[in-house]
Amino acid sequence: ALLATSVSAFAEYPEKPITIVVPFAAGGPTDKVARDLAEALRKPMGGTIVIENVGGAGGTLGATKVAKAAPDGYTVLLHHIGMATSPALYRNMQYKTLDDFEYMGMINEVPMTVIGRSTLPANNYAELAKWLDANKGKINMANAGLGSASHLCGLLFQQSMKIDMTTVPYKGTAPAMTDLLGGQVDIMCDQTTNTTSQIESGKVKAFAVTTAKKLTTPSLSKLPTLDEAGLKGFNVSIWHGLYAPKGTPKAVLDKFNAALKTALKDAEFIKREEALGAVIVTDARVNPAEHKKFVEAELNKWGPVIKAAGQYAD
Ligand code: MLT
Repeated sequence: ALLATSVSAFAEYPEKPITIVVPFAAGGPTDKVARDLAEALRKPMGGTIVIENVGGAGGTLGATKVAKAAPDGYTVLLHHIGMATSPALYRNMQYKTLDDFEYMGMINEVPMTVIGRSTLPANNYAELAKWLDANKGKINMANAGLGSASHLCGLLFQQSMKIDMTTVPYKGTAPAMTDLLGGQVDIMCDQTTNTTSQIESGKVKAFAVTTAKKLTTPSLSKLPTLDEAGLKGFNVSIWHGLYAPKGTPKAVLDKFNAALKTALKDAEFIKREEALGAVIVTDARVNPAEHKKFVEAELNKWGPVIKAAGQYAD
């Protein structure tokens, strides 16, 4: 009877709005992926999908909220590489990345760009490097808090440049971008989903991309990779995935995974994402087991890098 109840209880899933928690402020890259994906999920999922932005502590507050939510399929997390970097930064993490979530599949990979305020007296990477060197001790770099993608990229950039910068944390790179546009901060490492339109409008200066290969987006294709600009081996791209609280029923996870696979093939979704430099993952990476294996590998890759930086959030 119990089995019958649990199966029938979820046969009609979803019967109420599904909340996708975005662990950063509205308007930023994580939020952008979530809203684009929610549009594409509505048809295959059936029912309403709402986005809830829970910013703070580099994404760990939002992730904690979902780890502790009811495992009923109505609260899920859309998060990024922070799933693999935060554990090395927060000594009293409220969740275990590999134990406290059901892995629902990956979504995309997004390149990052190194950008600066429009008043910065540098118009290419070489001039930026000179300016940074000449202004040691006075540089303000924005990010979305320890554990964010912009934090990770900024950390690696500072280490590669051997220049320490003052980092200014925000609840997401949308508010960070506002201050960069206002000239309150000097530079930022941020995802193309947030920077492409600002670069195209000339409101910020773009200096390089963080991926191993140049980008094909027309307005970004001339930007050098940091690797070819001199930071040998620099290669960072930000992956996004979906997570449910541990214990969410398999029937729910299976339905969500099938809907996700359909959503990632939605022409409008692909168009919106690819126009901003994002690359949708292959079906193989939407497979929950593959997703979990990838995150475990990323935890093992970034953990030592972050620990070596000796940065702790608490
Ligand atoms: C990050 O740096 O982690 C993201 O850009 C945060 C955000 O989506 O605002």
